[in-house]
Amino acid sequence: MIKHDIVIVGGGLAGCRAALEIKRLYPSLDVALIAKTHPIRSHSVAAQGGIAASLKNVDPEDSWEAHAFDTVKGSDYLADQDAVEILTKEAPDVIIELEHLGVLFSRSSDGRIAQRPFGGHSHSRACYAADKTGHAILHELVNNLRRYGVHIYDEWYVLKLILEDNQAKGVIAFEITTSKVEAIAAKAVLFATGGYGRVYNTTSNDYASTGDGLGMAAAAGIPLEDMEFVQFHPTGLYPVGVLVSEAVRGEGAYLLNSEGERFMTHYAPSRMELAPRDITSRAIGLEIRAGRGINLDGSAGGPFVYLDVRHLGEVTIKSRIPFAWEEAHRLLGVDAVYQPIPVRPTVHYCMGGIPVNTATQVRRDGNSLVERFFAAGECSCVSVHGGNRLGANSLLECVVYGRKAGASIAQYVQDKDFPESDYEYHLAEARSAINSLLEKEGTIRIDVLRQAIQDCMSEYCSVFRTQATLEEGLDKLRKLKQDYNQIYLDDKGDCWNTELIEALELQNILIVAEIILTSALMRQESRGSHAREDYPTRNDGDFLKHTLAFYSPEKVKIDYMPVVINRFTPQERKY
Ligand code: FUM
Repeated sequence: MIKHDIVIVGGGLAGCRAALEIKRLYPSLDVALIAKTHPIRSHSVAAQGGIAASLKNVDPEDSWEAHAFDTVKGSDYLADQDAVEILTKEAPDVIIELEHLGVLFSRSSDGRIAQRPFGGHSHSRACYAADKTGHAILHELVNNLRRYGVHIYDEWYVLKLILEDNQAKGVIAFEITTSKVEAIAAKAVLFATGGYGRVYNTTSNDYASTGDGLGMAAAAGIPLEDMEFVQFHPTGLYPVGVLVSEAVRGEGAYLLNSEGERFMTHYAPSRMELAPRDITSRAIGLEIRAGRGINLDGSAGGPFVYLDVRHLGEVTIKSRIPFAWEEAHRLLGVDAVYQPIPVRPTVHYCMGGIPVNTATQVRRDGNSLVERFFAAGECSCVSVHGGNRLGANSLLECVVYGRKAGASIAQYVQDKDFPESDYEYHLAEARSAINSLLEKEGTIRIDVLRQAIQDCMSEYCSVFRTQATLEEGLDKLRKLKQDYNQIYLDDKGDCWNTELIEALELQNILIVAEIILTSALMRQESRGSHAREDYPTRNDGDFLKHTLAFYSPEKVKIDYMPVVINRFTPQERKY
């Protein structure tokens, strides 16, 4: 059996930042990082537009309090305000730290870190590296992991969290290149496994974003918090759904309907294209529904609207948002210097996740914690985003709470021995589960079932929901869950068996999908990204509370937990 003092699952920004902090504080701790891709290929690398911090380089009036208020208002008052205070107060410091690590931020003419406007932020506070900000940060973090001697298991897939006696005792992991299965014991485990965009059929997320950490935690009995809040980014490139960064609107792009009108004037007159994402995505949805969407031949009544940057001019387009220009050109043959870009909302981010306290330790329920188990980044819910995340706050969360996770865990393991468990039993169980998957003789291919699940989620649990759509979605999903028993695999091999990985991912996709649908059904109000057409207003009296969804194969049980409100009193949310 393999042993490491600390096991981190996930090689994106949160996991890498945590690993770095542990090694900086206690170089003798043995830290392992397990990632199903090479860490450089984690989805964080695709983050584009920016990372928010009140550095005041562009806007001297900015402050952490203003950043905190914008974040809480953006969250539709569901964010925990103690967690938001930490996020926004520590933001300037983590940016300077990244700069010292070697991250190449874009500069203003006086040489300071440049900052641009972003949706829902009242000041220009998104620091950026053109429109490749995640790429710039992740590369430096991964380089530094090597320097500090973190043991990296890249292209290993974690199959199971070993959770017994209310303690995380390690994981069972599978080496993708060889199919070797290992038990890895640890004094503490950190999940930093990212989001679940692939639960839906159209997403900005990479193929690896299948909600593995969320599914594994839920299967182990940990509740998932606020999973009904699914972020639809307003500007997914139509039809593929990849991200056209909010930075494009930060630089001044217009959203136009089939009549050539900047329709945001009807939905958020004071913020226009830089309204928060929930409001902008709904606005696009309503324009399309009203017949003011556009077809590929330019006629009205189609499935997308235009994002227009032509007035910015070639120099600005190619220097500030080069990746957006390149994407439209490469994927659609659209030259954004001369043509508008077709866009519509795409699934982008998971506001909910594994519930944690501000020290990143996982909650067992509303009142108690799980020992030896921590989570950070998109898979976690410390609730800094509540019902709707502001752009540029997710990279920030990964870095602030990744650093905090590192410090908390390093301290936590100081007086801990390795836990006791029957690791051989868990190993044998995992091997037997893999063998029975390989031996399945069903009739349904994995990709057919996965597509049906993704279509079900996109149809019944999209930007707008009602009790009827959610119930129908749940019904269909439960039938698809039964179909999992009828899958088969063509590839029986033990070298790079990606079909097997897809079969395992599908188990997590199913769990996450059922939790999203059930949580959404039970929240009978509209708040943030959760737009119930049958309950169109926010209902603080009954629903100013966090959902906790407990999964079992038979059903998902819903409970609630209070929101921390210590600074900003909930008010009507207008832009
Ligand atoms: O639009 C974007 O560049 C995305 C940023 C974010 O999700 O924070």
